[in-house]
Amino acid sequence: MPEVLATRRVHFCAAHRLFRADWTDERNAEVFGECANPNWHGHNYELDVTVRGPIDPETGFVMDLKGLKETLEERVVADVDHRNLNTEVGWLEGLNPSTENFVVAIWDRVAGSLPRGVRLARIVLHETPRHSVEYRGPSEESDA
Ligand code: NI
Repeated sequence: MPEVLATRRVHFCAAHRLFRADWTDERNAEVFGECANPNWHGHNYELDVTVRGPIDPETGFVMDLKGLKETLEERVVADVDHRNLNTEVGWLEGLNPSTENFVVAIWDRVAGSLPRGVRLARIVLHETPRHSVEYRGPSEESDA
């Protein structure tokens, strides 16, 4: 059976602040710009999650993308939508919530929740329509 990639997009809004507590306000503002605002700010995130696997001859699907949407809503969106990423999400605790750190944390939330035979291939997290970060999972070298 040919393997294909299938993508589901979900949306959420969240607040954050990018900063290091061990840096001065000036240094934080210099490195993180507007995202260092001490009084938080929000983003309208779009999350694209791509799975890979063989086409099921019975359904013609890699997996039911409605099921993928439900998994993403349960494992990710329910915890982060309309939340403060710095203070309200247990699985982001202690993390500076850059798009880079956030997308890797989302991978870890989703990777173990897929049906047998279906693999997570790629996650793209859009923080704005002009800024996104892509993660394709742990590098092969680190598995060797
Ligand atoms: Ni920001």
